[in-house]
Amino acid sequence: MLFPSYRPRRVRKNETIRRMVRETQLSVDNLIYPMFAIHGKNVKKEIPSMPGNYQLSVEKLVKEAQAVHQLGIPAVILFGIPKVKNAVGSGAYDENGIIQTAVRALKDGVPDLMVITDVCLCEYTDHGHCGIVENGEILNDPTLELLAREAVSHARAGADMVAPSDMMDGRVGVIREALDEDGHDEIPIMSYAIKYASGFYGPFRDAAESTPEFGDRGSHQMDPANTREAMREAEMDVAEGADILMVKPALPYLDIIYRVKEEFDLPVAAYNVSGEFSMIKAAARQGWLDEERVMMESLMAIRRAGADMILTYWAKEAARVLQR
Ligand code: PBG
Repeated sequence: MLFPSYRPRRVRKNETIRRMVRETQLSVDNLIYPMFAIHGKNVKKEIPSMPGNYQLSVEKLVKEAQAVHQLGIPAVILFGIPKVKNAVGSGAYDENGIIQTAVRALKDGVPDLMVITDVCLCEYTDHGHCGIVENGEILNDPTLELLAREAVSHARAGADMVAPSDMMDGRVGVIREALDEDGHDEIPIMSYAIKYASGFYGPFRDAAESTPEFGDRGSHQMDPANTREAMREAEMDVAEGADILMVKPALPYLDIIYRVKEEFDLPVAAYNVSGEFSMIKAAARQGWLDEERVMMESLMAIRRAGADMILTYWAKEAARVLQR
């Protein structure tokens, strides 16, 4: 029996000693803030299901990004809502598309902020799917070429990193090759390597206006039941040239984050997705829990599981807490 010679409470006595024995650190350096760009002028439209997050027209986006940078947050990830959507999602790879325009403005206005772009077609297709659709099926290989064009157009606009989130097979390799051929061999790929078909993306689809018109994303995103398949997905992306491996969502998949961190030696990112954020916000608004406390606990748990970086809608709020 260890007790009474060993008493774990001795090192929990006060905050000073707790700080000294703390095993995991959360820093502003770990945070990436997702932002939504939209056409127009003077638009700052709050996303109803994601309080404190907005669809922003480009000049407002730059202003907001300056505030993000000033808080010490190193990076943002951009999503775009295009003016028009069509079957081939051409807004995704249009030189003057919303993301391309936003990236140029951000690199001009906040040059030291790292700008990551989400590479997917779902925000740009009229059917809301992540690829070319034929007879109700999402086609893999024809979609790859469009994703590569999208990534290259982001890099040309000045994106510092691209993050493919579409979950088509083989996309990391195709994007790597296209970037290299276009002279962007220094641009890293943060792959949404392990992205589950999750109900927790609900609020995001309102924010990005990307809810699929029919069907779901089960034919390309992963089954929440699977772990070994997740390791295979990560392995493929490593082989195809991914620089950072992302797991998404985060909180319901901490076991997956842990395994990726154990089995691979690339940096690991975790996406603390919209639903994880919104359900805590909503409960806090009801007075059912203390948001700041639960936010910090959630982010710490994601770090403890092994994430080096966390994409989170709480980035600004967490940065403010960490500054105290
Ligand atoms: C796809 C994409 C999605 C998210 C990030 N990239 C939505 C989806 O797969 O349906 C979800 C992020 C979130 O819920 O916060 N472009």
